[in-house]
Amino acid sequence: MSVINHYKNTNTQFGWVTIVIHWLLVLPIIGLFFLGDYMMDLSYYDSFYTLGPKIHEAVGILVLFIMLFRVVWRVRNVSPTPPKTNSQFVNIASKLAHLGMYAILFLILITGLLISFAGGQGLEIFDWFIIPGPNEFFENQATLAGNVHRLAALGLMALIALHTLAALKHHFIDKDTTLTNMLGIKEK
Ligand code: HEM
Ligand code: HEM
Repeated sequence: MSVINHYKNTNTQFGWVTIVIHWLLVLPIIGLFFLGDYMMDLSYYDSFYTLGPKIHEAVGILVLFIMLFRVVWRVRNVSPTPPKTNSQFVNIASKLAHLGMYAILFLILITGLLISFAGGQGLEIFDWFIIPGPNEFFENQATLAGNVHRLAALGLMALIALHTLAALKHHFIDKDTTLTNMLGIKEK
């Protein structure tokens, strides 16, 4: 057993760039879900009432930029061939799940921006600087985008749970290289 030493994906292994981005984003994405859920329950007099959304938006913007790079990297790289023991169904289902996670993530990120820009005041990153944004595109933008944002976030969490269970099944039940590959470990 050894670790891989290439940064680009090959036909058999993920490269370090894909691996680092994959694991780097896990905590922020799941953290944003719980922070978002938590901050919606705060009242005006709570000390976290203004800071919570500020952290949520700033981390969200970072995730957005990393996701833009991730898509570019993804389309410019080959994907490792799945284990031979995988059924055709599993291969198609996992492709759809990965595509679904990308699509829902962008839906969340874009509706997040639409909520924040709705007042026309731009997006304030703490007291550091303001990212200017367009005014409202449609009526009730904050409410509508907020509803989609919440539903999409719930959908993403369901997909991530399924995705994690699938990864663990590959590792502990099928005993194939799916998970070790995403950890940068070479079996031989
Ligand atoms: C992976 C990324 C993200 C996840 C998982 C996420 C998740 C959530 C969740 C679960 C809520 C609570 C919704 C509710 O209960 O109504 C929320 C609220 C919110 N999010 Fe996000 N969010 C993400 C990214 C962003 C980004 C990039 C922005 C803006 C730059 C943003 C802005 C907001 C705002 C302003 C709210 C308050 C909504 C309201 O006032 O109705 N989010 N988010
Ligand atoms: C925020 C949570 C997560 C998201 C959004 C996510 C997303 C993705 C995506 C989009 C891929 C396809 C490769 C790529 O384009 O980067 C992938 C692959 C993978 N993920 Fe995750 N993932 C998450 C969490 C996890 C966790 C917790 C595990 C394991 C415990 C895991 C294990 C894997 C494995 C093993 C692969 C390779 C699958 C294959 O070769 O077909 N992921 N993930």
